Amino acid sequence: MTNKNNSPAFFNGNYMTIDQVAISPFDRGFLLGDSIYEVIPVYNGTMLGGEKHCQRLLHGLHAVGIESPYTLDGWQDVAAPVLLEGQAAQLIYIQVTRGAEQVRKHRFPIAAPPTVLIFSIAFSPSVSELYPGCAGHLQEDLRWQRCSLKSTSLMGNVLAYQQLYSDGVANDEALLVRNDRVVEAPSSNLFMAKDGVIFTPPIDNILPGVTRALVIDIAEDLGINMREEAPSIELFKSADEVWVTNSMEELKPIISIDGRPVGEGVPGEIWRQLFESFQTLKG
Ligand SMILES: Cc1ncc(COP(=O)(O)O)c(C=O)c1O
Repeated sequence: MTNKNNSPAFFNGNYMTIDQVAISPFDRGFLLGDSIYEVIPVYNGTMLGGEKHCQRLLHGLHAVGIESPYTLDGWQDVAAPVLLEGQAAQLIYIQVTRGAEQVRKHRFPIAAPPTVLIFSIAFSPSVSELYPGCAGHLQEDLRWQRCSLKSTSLMGNVLAYQQLYSDGVANDEALLVRNDRVVEAPSSNLFMAKDGVIFTPPIDNILPGVTRALVIDIAEDLGINMREEAPSIELFKSADEVWVTNSMEELKPIISIDGRPVGEGVPGEIWRQLFESFQTLKG
């Protein structure tokens, strides 16, 4: 017997349950990974950074030539009814594919409306003040060359996490290296602090994370010096503090790199200040 999933979903203009969603085998999201997605955190019924997330969605769709069926406000309105009742924290998942044509061709379809799927997933924030920290491992960045787009073609990211799993460290974090610089994690942005200055890679070819942007604003408000620069491996290994950010894990401290402790080997003071301020943004 299969588990029924009666959670609300929005699919191609209609509200239904997740079980009722029927996606064509010819859908280009399925066949070609030809789609853009977005994940919006919601705390006590209020989206955190909802507008920024929807702006990134619109930007991504435009960049790959998928016409957005909704406006900035429209996306937030259409997503709201899928929220799960009584959940303190949940993530709205939105995926927009280039649609379904009854052929498998790489070129864009001649006439196919985009496929839109939206649903919500409950989660419990995994990082707290008492979080002991997470080990990090440097890995070569094997992803494609347009990492600023939130594409569902995530094979490079999948393989990065599978590598951790195969190495017996599934709960650790992969830290991705491009041209001798540490640029990102497979599902998070990267920060380090050294001598009171925060470094974070610029958003030239990484995902412009919404959590990253919120953390930069907090650091500015707190008067902490910030440099948008990808650290060399050498600088990174000498960091006093390292943390990664995303919508689900918020700010996750990394306390070792390839087995060597970061600073004192515990979450640091700058992380703590930013983490505390971040909590006040949540509804
Ligand atoms: C590769 C990558 N970088 C960074 C992020 C963080 O983005 P956000 O803070 O908007 O969740 C994500 C989120 O999924 C990601 O996949």
